[in-house]
Parts: sequence; structure tokens; C-alpha cells
Amino acid sequence: MRRKALVLGVVCAGALLLAASALAGNGGTLPVTPHSPNARNTREAYYVVLVFTAIVFVGVEGALIVLMAKYRRGKRARTADGLQLHGSTRLEVLWTVVPVIILAVIGTFVFYILPSIANAPSASAANSTTIKVEGRQFYWMFHYPNDAVSVGTMVAPADNIVNEDVFAPDTDVLHSWWVPQLGGKIDAIPGRTNHTWFKAPVGTYAARCSDLCGIQHTMMLATVQVKSRADYEKFIADRAANPTSVALGKEEWDHVCAVCHRLDSAYIGPSLGGNPLLTHPDRLAVLLRNGFGRMPAVGSDWTDDQIAALVAYYKELTKGNG
Ligand code: CUA
Repeated sequence: MRRKALVLGVVCAGALLLAASALAGNGGTLPVTPHSPNARNTREAYYVVLVFTAIVFVGVEGALIVLMAKYRRGKRARTADGLQLHGSTRLEVLWTVVPVIILAVIGTFVFYILPSIANAPSASAANSTTIKVEGRQFYWMFHYPNDAVSVGTMVAPADNIVNEDVFAPDTDVLHSWWVPQLGGKIDAIPGRTNHTWFKAPVGTYAARCSDLCGIQHTMMLATVQVKSRADYEKFIADRAANPTSVALGKEEWDHVCAVCHRLDSAYIGPSLGGNPLLTHPDRLAVLLRNGFGRMPAVGSDWTDDQIAALVAYYKELTKGNG
């Protein structure tokens, strides 16, 4: 019996060790390396709570094991009564007061740090910008202050306060905008605008939807490209000057169409290769703006320019294929 327990214990410990190293590759269950002040403060709060909960866990489980060993039956007959214990005022006061103190410390710290996570620091117009983040089945669209748009890739200025107005159209469903390195999740709710922000150095950061929003939820990925302020200004100026660009069309294809369609075979939706609709802006516009059958109205607020950009890219993509 004792040997069986020992073997079981060793197997469990081994499994736990392996699990720990397997998870460590991508940070495991710990927060990713933060690149924005709000993400840093979120991680700080995580570690403060982790320290207290770890102490409580080790204390409670340790006491459990010690007491189980100490008061085990041993050589006593099965029918004999165990040790009779009655109350301990000191212990009872302790296990009431200590948890209250722990909760008070955690609560105070969290409420102290919360404003620095939720609220963007004030910044001049030259050191900040506001980007609207639109969640749709199944892509992210970004609207810049000069009315330029991008799909699937947000471009943002480095070391500036980037305010994000996160929303979804009235006709869509719930999504949740999440760039783990740049802060917490924020819901994209139809008909309502939520606010978050970040301030990050030059770099590329992965973003994703973190609310189950339909069949292709897992494909609702995006990238945040943080560039110098000059490069950011140049990007949105170029976009505004070339509203039907192939570059925009490629983003729309990759992040909107290709999420559910392939060129050469049926996927979630029918194959799009050789589909005459894609070269007719007017007919394509009707489909994108109204949806059809199971297809959502993915382009319900797209401009004619955005649809022309998609047609331009599709023609280039299928050039030579007839
Ligand atoms: Cu959008 Cu999940």
C-alpha cells in the first residue's frame, strides 16, 4: 500500500514538473512581457495577488498534510475514538483576522493601481492620437483621425499615448480587443464605445479577439505595428491619398475574405476563384453590404473606395488565372 502511494506521488510530481517546463516556453500561465505602462501595472497587480495566494495555498495545504500525518489512526483499533479536541480561541481569532488583513492589503493595492491601468495619462495632441478599433465578424478594422482605414494591421506612433475607441457595428456581435503586451482585454460591443490606451516602443505586437464570436473566432487575429511618429503620419497620409490602393485591398482579402473563403476550393464558404462577382464593384458592394445566406454583412459600412480596393487586389491576385 505504502509503495503504491509512493509511486503515485513520484508520477504526479514528475507530471507537474513536465507541465511546468512545457508551459514555460511561452511564458506559461504568467503574463507576457509588457510593453506599455498599463500592461506593466496589470502584471504588477498579478504578482502581488500571486504572492499572497501562494502563501495561503502553501500554508493551508501544508497544514492539511501535517495534521493528516499527526492525527492518523496509526495502531489504534478501527473502532476506537480519535483524539477529542474542543475549540481554540487564539486559533479562531487568528484565522479570522489574518484573511481580513490579507484581503484589505490586496484590495487597497488594486484600487491604488487601477487608475494607472484604466486611464491614459494626459498628453498634448503632438504626443497622442486616437484610433477607432472596430470589431466585426471576423476581422478588425482601424479608423485613423484623417479618415484613413486599415484592416487587420493597426499602425500606431511609438512613445505616444494611443487612445483606442473600441466598438462594433449595431448589426454585429460581441468581440473583445486584446493586445496582451499592450494591456488588458476590452470588449467591442455593438452600439457602444469602450476606451483603452497604450504607449509602446517601436515593435510589432500580436492582437486577437478574446470573445467567442462565431465560427471563425480563432481567425480573428490582428497585428499592431508601432512605428516612429513620422512613419505613422506618412502611413495614414498615404492611405488617405490612395483610398483604393491594392495594399488596402490585400488587407481586406487576407483578413476579411480569406478567413472564410479559398480561391480553389470550398471552405467555410464557397470557392472564390473565377467568381465573376469579385470583378464587378457594384454587385460585390450589394453582397458585402447586405450579406447573403450564412455570410454576414462584412462590408456594411465600407466606402465605395474600400470595395474598389478589394476588386483591384483580386484582379491582381488572379491575373493569369483567367
Ligand atoms: Cu471576434 Cu471572437
